[in-house]
Amino acid sequence: MSIIRNARLAARGVQKIEWVKDFMPALTEIGKQLIAEQAFTGLKIGMSIHMEAKTAYLATILQQAGAKVFATGCNPLSTQDDVAAGLASLGVEVYAVHGISSKGYSQHLNMVLENKPDLIIDDGGDLLEAYLRLPDYAKWPLIGGCEETTTGVTRLKQLEKHGLLPFPMVDVNGAQCKHYYDNKYGTGQSVWDAIMHTTNVLVAGKTVVVAGYGYCGKGIAMRARGMGAHVIVTEINSVKAIEANLDGFEVMTMNEAAPLGDFFVTATGCKDVIIEHHFLLMKDNAFLANAGHFDVEINLVQLAEEAKSVTHRRDDIMGYKLKYNNRTLNVLAGGRLVNLAAGNGHPAEIMDMSFSLQILCLKYLLEHHGLPEKKVYDVPADIDELVARTKLEAIGITLDRLTSDQQAYLGLD
Ligand code: NAI
Repeated sequence: MSIIRNARLAARGVQKIEWVKDFMPALTEIGKQLIAEQAFTGLKIGMSIHMEAKTAYLATILQQAGAKVFATGCNPLSTQDDVAAGLASLGVEVYAVHGISSKGYSQHLNMVLENKPDLIIDDGGDLLEAYLRLPDYAKWPLIGGCEETTTGVTRLKQLEKHGLLPFPMVDVNGAQCKHYYDNKYGTGQSVWDAIMHTTNVLVAGKTVVVAGYGYCGKGIAMRARGMGAHVIVTEINSVKAIEANLDGFEVMTMNEAAPLGDFFVTATGCKDVIIEHHFLLMKDNAFLANAGHFDVEINLVQLAEEAKSVTHRRDDIMGYKLKYNNRTLNVLAGGRLVNLAAGNGHPAEIMDMSFSLQILCLKYLLEHHGLPEKKVYDVPADIDELVARTKLEAIGITLDRLTSDQQAYLGLD
């Protein structure tokens, strides 16, 4: 039985799922074939991924392709209760409630696992970690799974290194059609969408500090500049720092950037990127947001210790008034990934590609059932190519084709 906030929200949730379908043509097309084949007949699929409309659409396709689907979120603050109710009304078993405690969240992960899924979709690695925590007698031979995000893949690689990965996992984030677009353009747009509607303040003319110039950071910096902000980047990697510099951004340490920023956005996958001494240097009414997977990038424990009061200032904004200088720092979405906890996540057109990869990689795992070692697999190049081609066809773009002469010239024959 599903565990959701309120079944009466289902109609609004279904409406949201219907809406995104129109903007996810590649997933629809790939899904049609898998539904016709009944590719997942008799299988149980467990999902732990942001519980919002695009994810729900993916779950319904898996279900129509024959699977029994059990779904939870991967962050209690990104769960949309209406979508959870809508998805449950469509026959998927859902365990997800917005804002649930971490204990409740763990219980929901365990409920997915109690169904003994054959395949999993994970976003950040929490479902896999919950599997590892089960006593040996309660484990079963899972075929494998797909990981959606950079931080989840970092966790998988650590397990692989120590020989602890319990079954094969596919690094969906590593596919070109994922991180080139989802992390960069998806995060770039949705982070600013969330920050702007949450704060209702101007970005143009402001100084934005972006921590991390990876795929997410690049998108966030690029879109901030597009809106007229002055952008500063902080990095720890020399090569990325040069790239940011050549892209026209100022690069400096967080210590140097702290007194200059109006907005701070972390996107590193690392912890303690903004800490105690940085807070004391910041301007009055600076905004702090995180786009990385976990809420560890801005050290809110230290910020609370420095504060003489913490007040709820607006939906998804807490104001921390500092003892040291009486300035207020505004933290968005409790330091959780802002575009999902205070927004709608990536645009549907972007998740179209990410979730096309997810569904094709689940099929890949099935086709290679028994073969793979317990390691992290790259997405096969032909799956990446198929997703790109399907997307281009769906949006009506055709490409030049090499003649046989050209192929021979390039050594491709
Ligand atoms: P990435 O590995 O491409 O980039 C991270 C960058 O941060 C690297 O250039 C690294 O050198 C830098 N970095 C690491 N520690 C740092 C520190 N202490 N200070 C400054 N820079 C530092 O990773 P990607 O793909 O950009 O992902 C970043 C995070 O965002 C991950 O946690 C990932 O899971 C998450 N993510 C969030 C999304 C969202 O919707 N909000 C979407 C996709 C990924």
